Amino acid sequence: MKKTITVLPGDGIGLEVVKATTTVLDKVAELYGHEFEYKYADIGGTAIDKHEDPLPQETVDTCKSSDGVLLGAVGGPKWENHPSGLRPEQGLLGIRKALQLFANLRPVTGHESLTDASSLKKEVVDNVDLMILRELTGGIYFGRPQERRQVDGEEAALDTMIYKKSEIERIVRQGFEMAKLRRKKLTSVDKANVLESSRLWRETVEEIKSDYPDVKVEHMLVDNAAMQIIREPKQFDVMVTGNMFGDILSDAASMLTGSLGMLPSASIGEQAPGLYEPVHGSAPDIEGQNKANPLAMIASAAMMLKYSFKMTEEADALDKAVSDVLSAGHRTGDIAKEGETALSTDEMTEKVMEVLKK
Ligand code: NAI
Ligand code: MG
Repeated sequence: MKKTITVLPGDGIGLEVVKATTTVLDKVAELYGHEFEYKYADIGGTAIDKHEDPLPQETVDTCKSSDGVLLGAVGGPKWENHPSGLRPEQGLLGIRKALQLFANLRPVTGHESLTDASSLKKEVVDNVDLMILRELTGGIYFGRPQERRQVDGEEAALDTMIYKKSEIERIVRQGFEMAKLRRKKLTSVDKANVLESSRLWRETVEEIKSDYPDVKVEHMLVDNAAMQIIREPKQFDVMVTGNMFGDILSDAASMLTGSLGMLPSASIGEQAPGLYEPVHGSAPDIEGQNKANPLAMIASAAMMLKYSFKMTEEADALDKAVSDVLSAGHRTGDIAKEGETALSTDEMTEKVMEVLKK
């Protein structure tokens, strides 16, 4: 199969982890007889430097005309308080909006050999395998009005938590579809005991569930979910939730695996290509030193193979390669223990290529 991939390296270690990932993807293409064509475009600080715009229109157009988008990371001290007033993060929010990416997927996979990097007990986190599906374009972050006003003669601030039924429906359906591909359990997280928007959310899940008779559904209040994700994360398969709850829960869940350098993510929409990026940022403290852990970006590319290209076998092979290098004890600096030798970005990439097979 031939696929066109827009590559947005961005800033800092974004460039390094993206380079590692296209190298690995080339190997996937070779093994399975595919052709991946890369189109490079600018975003973030690099785009501010070159085009005085964190998201040039050309970048948006390139993304829209491709089958999938890989993004490294954006930002760095160089562009903080930039004289232009432009910020690299505007590129990130802008591209999510331009591609109408309403669903953010964050898998949390606890590799057995990495449990010592987590602050939780080994038996709680080893082999944990859950997916948080967060609604990304609605809810309290976007609801209007959002303003300051005088209330009872004093300053007050107001945010609006609003969800349209259609917005709930599309993310919940996505949750069911995802659960179908996994262990067939969906946990819908809300605050239906207090919030009207959550009561509509819950009703909508109840209506949709008859379309997915093979998926087991449960509802959980968000405060309980926050506790359960730390207490017994293995009870979860797919968790689907609104924008703000998902923001908080996914950061909490990210700590189950211990290192930022290990976490992939995907943002998908209805039509436009999905955007695949590591959860970590541009890591200015290690940029340009060949130290970055490329595994989060590589795992993000595996998600692209699976969700955008429907190349399930290829995605599984890539995930397995990541898991195998970890089991073999290979570590970059961020996950190495005292006294262990840390591999460079290039060496880690090489290890992945060595174990990757059909
Ligand atoms: P960060 O994720 O860049 O770094 C936090 C710490 O984790 C640093 O010590 C870094 O060296 C380490 N780290 C991160 N990724 C790593 C990897 N792959 N391998 C090894 N170590 C890794 O977060 P920070 O320092 O808060 O932000 C730095 C810049 O990145 C800021 O400008 C921020 O706005 C931006 N940022 C961008 C994101 C994105 O593009 N999605 C997300 C988060 C931050
Ligand atoms: Mg967050």
